[in-house]
Amino acid sequence: MKIRSLKLVNFRNYKQVELKFNDNLNIIYGNNGCGKTNVVESIYALSLTKSFRTNEDKNLIKKGELSTKIEGEILSNTENNYQVIISKEGKKVKIDDDYISKISDYIANIKVIVLEPDAQTIFNDTPASRRKLLNIEISQLEKDYLIYLNNYNKILKQRNFYLKELFINGNASLDYLNILTTKLIESGKKISDYRLNFIDKINEYINNYYQNIFSYGNLKVKYISEFKNKSEEDILKMFNKNYQKEVNLGKSYFGIHHDDIEFILDNKNIREWGSNGQQKNAIFAFKLAELDLFYQKNGLYPILILDDLFSAIDNEKIKNIIKLLNENVQTFITTTDLERIPENLINHASLYEVKDEMIVEDYCGRK
Ligand SMILES: Nc1ncnc2c1ncn2[C@@H]1O[C@H](COP(=O)(O)OP(=O)(O)OP(=O)(O)O)[C@@H](O)[C@H]1O
Ligand SMILES: [Mg+2]
Repeated sequence: MKIRSLKLVNFRNYKQVELKFNDNLNIIYGNNGCGKTNVVESIYALSLTKSFRTNEDKNLIKKGELSTKIEGEILSNTENNYQVIISKEGKKVKIDDDYISKISDYIANIKVIVLEPDAQTIFNDTPASRRKLLNIEISQLEKDYLIYLNNYNKILKQRNFYLKELFINGNASLDYLNILTTKLIESGKKISDYRLNFIDKINEYINNYYQNIFSYGNLKVKYISEFKNKSEEDILKMFNKNYQKEVNLGKSYFGIHHDDIEFILDNKNIREWGSNGQQKNAIFAFKLAELDLFYQKNGLYPILILDDLFSAIDNEKIKNIIKLLNENVQTFITTTDLERIPENLINHASLYEVKDEMIVEDYCGRK
């Protein structure tokens, strides 16, 4: 999968930008704060319709403007034009000439993986942020995942509401609760299966990256879920047993809304035991493992973004990453310091200098 060209209108600090990209390596360089991450963020937003560093879509709109448009030509099995238009009222997405009404139909099309220094924060965050990571990655792989997830969240809300109702009104119908419980289990089990399958596949590849690029040790990811390895009947029994507790609490006691993942390095949970460096390496190995996973599923590699990695890991590791990458992976690197990138890589890359809110393709005297 490649992004051939990108057009931005009123995106972050850019009024208007048009770029063509190299199918292999693209290096975006410039001083701190000039807008390098903004460029790769726009590629991510073209794929997922949102940013990897803000939950507020409106932050993507250039200050003082009403809307932003990100447009790109994407080559996968066919070449298509993709557009994301964000305004204060909401967002619209378009493939070629057609507006797509269901976001889930849009975001499974362009696959992007980002390695960035902040990725490590998932170790200090709540389980919700690790579930968010799973949701983002699996929704790019499995078209139906988001549909099940949205459905689950809707039923969970209804069920929690009804549990409160039961607390207030002891005569309310239990039949309705049973219907909601069955529905919750059905869609929750689907999500849980997707997540389990995803983590199993990650485990086929993650150690290879961890050991070859980063460090010694044995790394695997563990999926933690109350639904894991249980049949729907077993789960139902669990719910029935805890019925009174749920009514007293006014919320659903079990479910995939409690799921979590743990990174286990040499049998120890890296969140509790791992060093700063080990945590960084683990999350980067996780992201790189996804390259293979996507390839296994689609026969195409995702677009890879390495944002400001030089501030996170040493040169040697970055060289290892790039060495290990298949030449079919289109890669974007942002850096303040071009000197740190090995010369042989620069010779094969397209370079873009960011300065004064403009981006200039820089041929460095090359043809
Ligand atoms: N909505 C917006 N409208 C206008 N400018 C914005 C907007 N959002 C961010 N900016 C500007 O974009 C710049 C930051 O861009 P970016 O994060 O891409 O920098 P960078 O080159 O990656 O920096 P670093 O090297 O520090 O990572 C800042 O100058 C900021 O003021
Ligand atoms: Mg940056």
